[in-house]
Amino acid sequence: MSNDTRPTADFVDPDDLINNTSGNPHFAEVLERGMSRRRVLRGGVGGALAAVIAPVALTACGGGDDDVVVSPPAPPVAPTETLLGFTAVAKTLADRSSVASGYTATTLIACGDPLAAGVPAYKNDGTDTNYAQRSGDCHDGMEYFGLSAAGARDDNANDRALLGTNHEYITPVVLHAAGPSPRPRPASESQIEIDCHGVSIVEIRKGSDGKFAYVQNSGFNRRITAETEIQFSGVARGNPLLVTKYSPDGTRTRGTINNCGTGKTPWGTLVTGEENWSGYYFRPAGDQALRPAKENTSFARYGRSVTATAAADSRYGWETSGTQDQWAHWNIGVLGATAAADYRYEHNGQGYIVEVDPYNPASVVKKRTSMGRFAHESGAFGNPVAGKPIVCYMGCDSQNEYIYKWVSTATWNPADANASDRLAIGDKYLDSGKLYAAVFNDDGTGQWRELSLANPAVAGFAGYPFADAGDVAINARLAADAVGATRMDRPEWCGVHPSTGEIYFTLTNNGNRRVAPTGTQTRVNAANPRAYVDVRSGTVPQNGNVHGHIVRLKEAANEPGALAFTWDIYLFGAEAGSDPTFINLSGLGADNDFSSPDGLVFSKATGLCWIQTDDGAYVDVTNCMLLAAVPGAVGDGAKKTLNYGSVSVEAPVGKAPTAATLKRFYVGPYDCEVTGLCETPDGKVMFINIQHPGDGTAAADLADPAKYTSQWPSNEGYGAGKRPRSATVMITKNNGQRVGT
Ligand code: FEO
Ligand code: CA
Ligand code: CA
Repeated sequence: MSNDTRPTADFVDPDDLINNTSGNPHFAEVLERGMSRRRVLRGGVGGALAAVIAPVALTACGGGDDDVVVSPPAPPVAPTETLLGFTAVAKTLADRSSVASGYTATTLIACGDPLAAGVPAYKNDGTDTNYAQRSGDCHDGMEYFGLSAAGARDDNANDRALLGTNHEYITPVVLHAAGPSPRPRPASESQIEIDCHGVSIVEIRKGSDGKFAYVQNSGFNRRITAETEIQFSGVARGNPLLVTKYSPDGTRTRGTINNCGTGKTPWGTLVTGEENWSGYYFRPAGDQALRPAKENTSFARYGRSVTATAAADSRYGWETSGTQDQWAHWNIGVLGATAAADYRYEHNGQGYIVEVDPYNPASVVKKRTSMGRFAHESGAFGNPVAGKPIVCYMGCDSQNEYIYKWVSTATWNPADANASDRLAIGDKYLDSGKLYAAVFNDDGTGQWRELSLANPAVAGFAGYPFADAGDVAINARLAADAVGATRMDRPEWCGVHPSTGEIYFTLTNNGNRRVAPTGTQTRVNAANPRAYVDVRSGTVPQNGNVHGHIVRLKEAANEPGALAFTWDIYLFGAEAGSDPTFINLSGLGADNDFSSPDGLVFSKATGLCWIQTDDGAYVDVTNCMLLAAVPGAVGDGAKKTLNYGSVSVEAPVGKAPTAATLKRFYVGPYDCEVTGLCETPDGKVMFINIQHPGDGTAAADLADPAKYTSQWPSNEGYGAGKRPRSATVMITKNNGQRVGT
């Protein structure tokens, strides 16, 4: 989702929300209010420290069914390969894929490409239809699922696979001939937009030229959209808060929306996180008077408050397309006599981790409600250990929101890695367990606090009377408020280091972090220690933690179910040349400076940590990018003191990167976010997603391609028309070595 806050005519940034008014204390908030001291960019550059090279190894899954091949240990780095051996790519505003020298970047599939036999080629002029059989828009998280030559699951397959890709939202201006019509929205336009959302499963196969292409008529191809039937699973299934006219027993709903980050389970399924779903729903003015107080508390916490005179408008106006149920369910007002007569609880049906079996296109899709309802990014599974619980780490991406962990009740049986009924294995590990929220103490320690009625802080929470365990899961943000979780600088993706098991979270930025907060702003603390002013383009001031950072956690005794952890800050985003004392704390230079880390994925082949940006602060200088890192470990650095005057914060900071441990690998086309990363098991083909290139294009300029802010990927020879398209890009090294060497 775009972070770009450049002042364009109709730009909105639904990703950059704040709904946390919990007033949670921070454990080192000893700072008096009223103090304010601005920090401005452009100081000297901090010194870089020595390189650190982490050992690379892979935890292998056990064996099992003979039609399934599981991952072997990764090969060691070949003698001829050097991690980060490429030359850094310069920052650029060019409207193209700029990849490191010696590599090739090629578009594989783009928004609108046909995914079934007989579907016409994409014209890309705003007149295409039938997007339920085309690639969706705004590609985001993505996972690779290997296929054998015979078409069975094969985790070692490098030549044939399924890509599971999120389609987070849409760039409406390019989907309709003259841009989107005003409300009431024509049903034909709403249908296109609904179908462009969700998830795609697409087969890819290497041809005789050794390059992957997608297979238009594959029987594996599948589209899940914003109106596909989906089952609730887990603790909230059947809860009164999930009852709707569509599902009077509260067991199913339609659609998954705003799918952002992804994850891959140890049993070979896709998980996809529902992020900024709240704004898709229309809630009428006056609806608050028709609800119990606790429902209004929930709406406030999830961003759908109304007053007697002010409605909460929907992002795209789908509810205005007709009175039929297909459109009416996007209006969540109390309109009928009972919950089973309207869609007053439809809003509770989004905000989950959703599990998809990519290998079975007829399989049901399940919302794993026990893992909590919030603005989900990725779901990063810990390396599975026989006899230990399965764990999944998750972030909630809004300003001042929390980091969560799921711990299964069942302990890992390696035979489950290869079971044929993969969703039954999902039931086993993702429906029963405990959900926790993270507290980051200022001394570098932390705790996981349980979100359940067994925790007196939850059961006795004055802010919201939880009715049952399902209510706790549905209102997980409120439960996390209750336990005093630490408000973070927008938790985006998380990733688990393949050999150390340490957990990395990107904290993309926070415009409401302050040294001296007022209102909904939050005070700096050790885990979120920066608040400063960055002046973009010399005129546009940006406040708070403008460039974001990456925090990492180490579980106590390396136990996945641990209730305590230690942590440090791995990396701070910053512009080269900015103040090394308050801003450029990682000493970034021209070859590795970046802003707003978002996607974060570890390569199981090379152990490299790939960092992607979704930036609105540095876009006067460079498009969004992909960097490669050789990370160290929690505790490999030292404390840094940020003395703001009468306020001082001590942050545990990892060893500073060097040219050998952090390097820019790729810069995307104009007006895009670089996101979603997966690779072949041999590490020789990387797939990334380019989201919303050219989304600053105005509808009034559609007739003149020269006025598009991007013409990618057509300007690199891909597809018809010149309208910009979100797309998947594959990257290979020209000499056949692994990507990142
Ligand atoms: Fe969809 Fe938080 O990025
Ligand atoms: Ca983002
Ligand atoms: Ca994201």
